[in-house]
Amino acid sequence: MNDLQHEDPLALFHQWLKDAESSEPNDPNAAALATATPTGEPSVRMILMKRADERGFCFFTNAESRKGMDLEANPRAALCFHWKTRRRQVRVEGAVTVMEAADVDAYFHSRSRKSQIGAAVSRQSRPLASREQLEAQVQEFAEQHPTDVPRPPFWLGYCLEAHRIEFWMDGPDRLHDRFLFTRSNGQWDQIRLYP
Ligand SMILES: Cc1cc2nc3c(=O)[nH]c(=O)nc-3n(C[C@H](O)[C@H](O)[C@H](O)COP(=O)(O)O)c2cc1C
Repeated sequence: MNDLQHEDPLALFHQWLKDAESSEPNDPNAAALATATPTGEPSVRMILMKRADERGFCFFTNAESRKGMDLEANPRAALCFHWKTRRRQVRVEGAVTVMEAADVDAYFHSRSRKSQIGAAVSRQSRPLASREQLEAQVQEFAEQHPTDVPRPPFWLGYCLEAHRIEFWMDGPDRLHDRFLFTRSNGQWDQIRLYP
């Protein structure tokens, strides 16, 4: 990869994601999302990135989950994509904002009825007594909402607006290529890093 050929990291990200879509066995849009509490206690988990554009790298989750609580108190995060079939990694860091309600509604209602019910019933990351309790709650909720499922107020979209994006690709003899893009004053600068 010639560093001068890619001035727009978002375009390069989409090219790599497209490459991954043709080779990954599943979820090429999966990424590890790292958050931290205000006192710096880190945690990480996988999410599915559903949109990446100038508004950010966006995903959906429960605002009352552990990650949701972290983001409310400390709205900064990092994402790490790893495409094993391509031997490539992309790391993204930045500030996180909550997505416009209309966009969250549109995405929520584009999902299957069962997914909507699952999201509405789940008290994500809180203790659950048994699988049976969850299934009973799903059934009860479905009976109470025979047609439309309202989006629960705690189910939100978040967008990570990147100020730092790093592309890593496997090279021979551990001489990997790394390209770091950093944004300042709306402009992306690019440098190469030692592997
Ligand atoms: C491949 C994969 C994709 C996932 N995507 C999401 C997602 O988009 N949103 C979400 O809330 N949880 C997703 N999860 C579940 C999370 O990893 C996690 O278990 C859950 O959100 C609770 O995390 P928390 O307790 O840190 O908030 C995914 C898990 C995997 C393995």
